Amino acid sequence: MKKLIAGNWKMNGSLAANATLLEALLEGLRGSTPGADVALCVPAPYLAQVQSLLQGSPIAWGAQDVSPHAQGAYTGEVSAAMLQDFACRYSLVGHSERRQQHGETDAVVAAKAQRALAVGITPIVCVGETLAERQAGLTEAVVKRQLAAVIHTVAHCTSEIVLAYEPVWAIGTGQTATPQQAQQVHAVLRAQLAAATKHPARVRILYGGSMNANNAASLLAQADVDGGLLGGASLKASDLLQIVALAG
Ligand code: 13P
Repeated sequence: MKKLIAGNWKMNGSLAANATLLEALLEGLRGSTPGADVALCVPAPYLAQVQSLLQGSPIAWGAQDVSPHAQGAYTGEVSAAMLQDFACRYSLVGHSERRQQHGETDAVVAAKAQRALAVGITPIVCVGETLAERQAGLTEAVVKRQLAAVIHTVAHCTSEIVLAYEPVWAIGTGQTATPQQAQQVHAVLRAQLAAATKHPARVRILYGGSMNANNAASLLAQADVDGGLLGGASLKASDLLQIVALAG
């Protein structure tokens, strides 16, 4: 299976800046099929722009969150069906910034993953421990608990998710997990998937947290690292293109 390099723009961008960035990415990929799958998870207001500029290109697009509800009186929420209207292939769910800043529980994250799957959108389920949890020796227990909630809820669709291991202490800090630290957790997650689905190898497990053009190669070389989830590096065309080339 091809590796997946997914960008998470977070709350960054403007119509003008997005157009410049997307043009540079498309220019960089012109004339060759990338050896890795590429996707960008963008702020919801820009989905129409991204759809119009990326359709027919090798770059897929998606959202950063999806409501756990189907429709109705949920002011400010965006439903899976709405994301489907804009041809989203992916949606992040359970990013640590949402877990921490919006109080998303494991059960809410699982419900979001299920809503996405129900309309054919691949949820990129984010798991990861805080620094305090790592220091307390709780890393494996935390990520297993987070993944277990999703497996329990989506059941036979487990092989259709993408998983992203994002240690909270590595996000936006420049303090990347070592390739060995990443591989160790990815192997734990793979074993958990193997117990839950006949097709554990179909689930791509991405690493995220200060991945950049300098450290990507050694992370992507690990046996169970099937791609990357990039924050800052997804806002710079040259960095993203370099990482896509390394993953191919
Ligand atoms: P950075 O790559 O900026 O550390 O962000 C990682 C992330 O949170 C991607 O979802």
